[in-house]
Amino acid sequence: MIRARELLLVLLLCRPLLGEPGEGAATWAHFAQAPYPQDQLFLYDTFPEGFLWGAGTAAYQVEGAWRQDGKGPSVWDAWAHRHAVQGAPGVAGDVAGDGYNRLQRDLDGLQLLGVSHYRFSLAWARLLPNGTAPLNLAAVRYYARLLSGLRSRGVEPVVTLYHWDLPQRLQDAHGGWQSSALADRFRDYAELCFRHFGDHVRYWLTIDNPYLVAWHGYATGRLPPGVQGGPRAGFRAAHNLLKAHAKVWHLYNNNFRAIQGGQVSIALGSHWIEPQKMIREDIMKCQKSLDFVLGWFAKPLFIDGDYPQTMKDNLPLVLPEFTEAEKMFVRGTADFFALSFGATLSFHLVDFPMKFQQQESLNLRPLLYWISKEYNKPQIFIVENSWFISGRTKTDDSKYMYYLKRFIMETLKAIRYDEVHVIGYTVWSLMDGFEWIRGNVRRGLFYVDFQSHDKKLVSKSSAHFYQEVIGKNGFLPLPENQPIEGIFPCNFAWGIIEHNLHIDTTPSQFLDPSVYVWDVYRTKTLIKVEGVDAPKRKRHCADLAAIRLQISLLGQTHITHFYFSLKWSLILPSGNLSYVNHTLLFYYHCFVSELLRVNITPVVALWKPVGENQGLPFSLAKHGGWENPLTVRAFEEYARLCFKKLGQHVKFWITINEPYTKNLTFSAAHNLLKGHAKAWHLYDREFRKIQKGKISIALQADWAEPACPFSENDKMAASRVLEFDFGWFAEPIFGNGDYPDVMRKWKNGDIWDFYLPFFSEEEKKLIHGSFDFLALSHYTTVLVDSVNEDPEKYDQRLKVQMLNDITWLESPSGSRIVPWGLRKLLQWVKSKYGDMPIYVLANGIDDKPDAAEDKLRIYYIQNYINEALKAYTLDNVNIQGYFVHRFTDRTDPKYGLFHYVVNRYEPRPSVKRYREIIDKGGFPGQETPELFCPEEIAFDPDYIAFQPRRSFLAFVSFICFAFIVTVFMIINYSKKADRRYK
Ligand SMILES: *[C@@H]1O[C@H](CO)[C@@H](O)[C@H](O)[C@H]1NC(C)=O
Ligand SMILES: *[C@@H]1O[C@H](CO)[C@@H](O)[C@H](O)[C@H]1NC(C)=O
Ligand SMILES: *[C@@H]1O[C@H](CO)[C@@H](O)[C@H](O)[C@H]1NC(C)=O
Repeated sequence: MIRARELLLVLLLCRPLLGEPGEGAATWAHFAQAPYPQDQLFLYDTFPEGFLWGAGTAAYQVEGAWRQDGKGPSVWDAWAHRHAVQGAPGVAGDVAGDGYNRLQRDLDGLQLLGVSHYRFSLAWARLLPNGTAPLNLAAVRYYARLLSGLRSRGVEPVVTLYHWDLPQRLQDAHGGWQSSALADRFRDYAELCFRHFGDHVRYWLTIDNPYLVAWHGYATGRLPPGVQGGPRAGFRAAHNLLKAHAKVWHLYNNNFRAIQGGQVSIALGSHWIEPQKMIREDIMKCQKSLDFVLGWFAKPLFIDGDYPQTMKDNLPLVLPEFTEAEKMFVRGTADFFALSFGATLSFHLVDFPMKFQQQESLNLRPLLYWISKEYNKPQIFIVENSWFISGRTKTDDSKYMYYLKRFIMETLKAIRYDEVHVIGYTVWSLMDGFEWIRGNVRRGLFYVDFQSHDKKLVSKSSAHFYQEVIGKNGFLPLPENQPIEGIFPCNFAWGIIEHNLHIDTTPSQFLDPSVYVWDVYRTKTLIKVEGVDAPKRKRHCADLAAIRLQISLLGQTHITHFYFSLKWSLILPSGNLSYVNHTLLFYYHCFVSELLRVNITPVVALWKPVGENQGLPFSLAKHGGWENPLTVRAFEEYARLCFKKLGQHVKFWITINEPYTKNLTFSAAHNLLKGHAKAWHLYDREFRKIQKGKISIALQADWAEPACPFSENDKMAASRVLEFDFGWFAEPIFGNGDYPDVMRKWKNGDIWDFYLPFFSEEEKKLIHGSFDFLALSHYTTVLVDSVNEDPEKYDQRLKVQMLNDITWLESPSGSRIVPWGLRKLLQWVKSKYGDMPIYVLANGIDDKPDAAEDKLRIYYIQNYINEALKAYTLDNVNIQGYFVHRFTDRTDPKYGLFHYVVNRYEPRPSVKRYREIIDKGGFPGQETPELFCPEEIAFDPDYIAFQPRRSFLAFVSFICFAFIVTVFMIINYSKKADRRYK
């Protein structure tokens, strides 16, 4: 349904002509049609040869020296002195990073990064203190030194004439950009700049972000000069800015271009916006929103010298009009499209009404595509882009780094996938500086301690990252990310997990023992005959329809194993053996025996903490749950019952599935470990010999990756998370018999560590080694940052903050899909606990609930299994099984290989894909020797021991039979012979 509508949209919006205004509206439908999830995967590729890599600054953010050497005040000086910006470094931009006095420092920073371009702005009020002549020679010397310093380092300048810092004198004398007189002042200033510096500058930007200057400077007053003139004043200022820009372009074009050979443009900022719904009406609102912010300036310059039609229709009284001559003068006055996308405009300063109730978005790639469509494929130079990070951070700026990574990758995709002509990219900014009205945030690649005397530039993580990207001109493919070919061994366990088994214990009608008579004459119904019972028939598993249905679905998948958990609280509602729900036990009994009938090995967990009371019987939960040592004894009792009743069929036990470490107190965990160990020993002592099964615990094990690969602190933080999440249970059982060292030694300044219990020698003996294999559930990977960047997200207990690499594929519920995380985890487990059999007992992801498509799940399953294969073949991890989470979506529509619709289940496409992988035993290639698994050893290893014995018996009986037949024949023949020769 949705697809059909989208298709229609594409048809509607794709008019044949290119570069017409409104052409960009096809963008949303275009990206809605992109192959999913392939289109969203990280793109490893390089940028075109000669791609421009830059970093940028604005004079007022970094120069300081606000009245040194004769500089005049700008509107920002005046504003910042009036409004001491809260939390801003130093006093306004008075000093900031003091760049005016530290030229060498900045040049060295640029050289270290290896950028090809440096974007900076000239301070109008430094060159012309009053906005008009006379010229301040000290300023000319400073910028000349900067330009020659860049030249000697092979860095090309990109020079902005005016980055928001209008000389205050011009504001006072004319009312700033509200006056058309400003255009000539600006032209004079520009001429002077071209004359003095133009020999060394190939890229000029006249004005930075006219939207902000006009709208917030003169309409809302949120930015200097702070005029609250309403829309009319804002549109007038913009009108003057456009004309001023055009004047400067013509000036350069007529008088300087021939000699200096540069290009002139204007830096336009934009947000990106997405429709609430993929319907034409919302898409048109998005188009309008872009018209009102970006099109306002871009359409006159790049198309026809006039404002967008949507603006003209909506704002007839306030929007000024261009004369025909002005239109001719304005159109075509930009030599390339200079785009600014990032924190200042994209989210903070787009006026709410200009969003038309649609959603802003961080996606840069569709914006680039939109510009390309709307403005007839211009060359786009991204002259400002980045995000921001809290001012409390220093050099570990992982969050910022991942924003850069994402924006750069999106730029690359725009070039490689969408054929957008992007020529360069500029990070904002080179160093920490004064952040306008944002106050206490940082956006630099280099850290500056504003309080320090020497104001050194210190590389942040993002600087290392950017340096690497520039060095490689993009992202080189990582060999370890390529899928491999190969297969798993024959007895590999292919499974599915389901913790919410569909339980329906009502027997079919044939089991009703009552006797009925048919009232043929009156009511024409069956009437029960009171006091008479038919002889009772034994209960049969086949009577349970719910089981038949579920087993037949599982049969379709070709799995060899099926994992589910028993409901302790339902089997023993009172917590002890005083009441046993035999109906339910019988149901479980049937389930496992029916599984065996179709050659599926049941894997059964005794308990999984879930929902109310953690799934504990109420009386136990009421008395403290695992805090109470009596729960340990109750668990052992319960385990014995399960082994006794189900152990004949179940050879693969899990005591406890995924104890939830985030919630658990130390003392409860201590008891939980004991509960597990007691159940294990009970099995080992009393049941193993007869039942010949194996038993262990299943732990949740998501991978934790250091947020910043360059940071030792982050590495320690990630290891801390793993130890507290996984090691907490794993180390006592599989490791050294005590809690992890990291936990024992973790001091975070409170009494916390004091509570971590010690194991007595006896407990140690009980717990250590209480396993037959290692089982884990793995769903995703998180990044661990050691920096408290955002107090709301900071985990005080472990002193970590969880992050995401925002280039990672994301599920609808926000889980990240990171297949290589599984391989890293398996390597880590092996290195810590040794070479033991490992089962991945749960691995899965949510996907869009509609039944028809689960492309993301398919991608996920396939790639995670491939990483498991790498662990098996390349890292020699002894992995013996893999289970998909989970069977059906009956209790949660986002999860499930099978889609539940009123008493029916439909297989999603992922079932087919999983079955293919199972049938092939993995991912065989041309070279892979074919997997030949004789039928009888295809399942559980327990059967392997048993099978040969059975065939041996058959062989022996055959011999006996043959012997008897032979003897009989001999006797018979000899009798006949006797008769014949008598
Ligand atoms: C700027 O203007 C003021 C007031 O008109 C004047 O006093 C000052 O000398 C001027 N500065 C320069 C550098 O011309
Ligand atoms: C036993 O468990 C089944 C399934 O949960 C439930 O329907 C039934 O009511 C229980 N029986 C008793 C007597 O609690
Ligand atoms: C964690 O604890 C909260 C509050 O005690 C509870 O509501 C939640 O269900 C628990 N989560 C798990 C997975 O046990």
